[in-house]
Amino acid sequence: MKIIECSSYEQISKYGAEIIAQQINEKRNSVLGLATGSTPIGMYRELTDMYENNCLDFSGITTFNLDEYCGIDYNIPQSYHHFMQENLFSKVNIPMKSIHIPDASAEDAETACRNYEDAICKAGGIDIQVLGLGHDGHIGFNEPSDSFPVITHKVKLEERTILANMRFFARREDVPQFAVTMGIGTIMKARRILLLVFGDDKEEIMKRALTGKVIPQVPASVLQLHPDVTVLYGK
Ligand code: F6R
Repeated sequence: MKIIECSSYEQISKYGAEIIAQQINEKRNSVLGLATGSTPIGMYRELTDMYENNCLDFSGITTFNLDEYCGIDYNIPQSYHHFMQENLFSKVNIPMKSIHIPDASAEDAETACRNYEDAICKAGGIDIQVLGLGHDGHIGFNEPSDSFPVITHKVKLEERTILANMRFFARREDVPQFAVTMGIGTIMKARRILLLVFGDDKEEIMKRALTGKVIPQVPASVLQLHPDVTVLYGK
């Protein structure tokens, strides 16, 4: 595991974008696993700048997002579909047909989750997976639990996650209680992982996750078992 301490949020964003750009330049048809949340926004801005300056071409890229809320209109700003459009997809030339976000509105969630796993497989697997870190150690929406969820699945969000996500909603009642997320197994199958962590408030959980015991109660601790993880951390 490579842990790079950054001096600012801007530096995390810049280094993160450089790592993604290098991946794309080395393999034009790379498969990117993407995250939402506040941490990767700066990195998406950097990637957008590279595209606008003709330094990066996304036309061969396929993307798979980590997660999406259940029971949410995909057109409202709080949905992850909308977030990705706003922060990246509408600004670069990733073909629409190559963009994948879990279908959290499907009536048959199990089949939709299985289809998502199949689509990742068919695309050749994820080359690099971007992750943020939740305050309780979650990655994607894999919350602390008694076992590591293996595949894409529907999950009930923890109170702490709901409270953390409240900043994006007008009222607590508006925050969805359920989401669909890639499983820990899905994430661990990515060939490379890029974990972005920013802020004092993440320092303690980051230490527990990266140097503590590997336990499902701290889902991100599983990353210690992955052969190619880069962590960009700053506060
Ligand atoms: C987002 C996601 C979440 C976030 C995590 C950190 O797609 O899956 O696991 O990465 O909650 O969020 P921020 O970056 O807002 O601190």
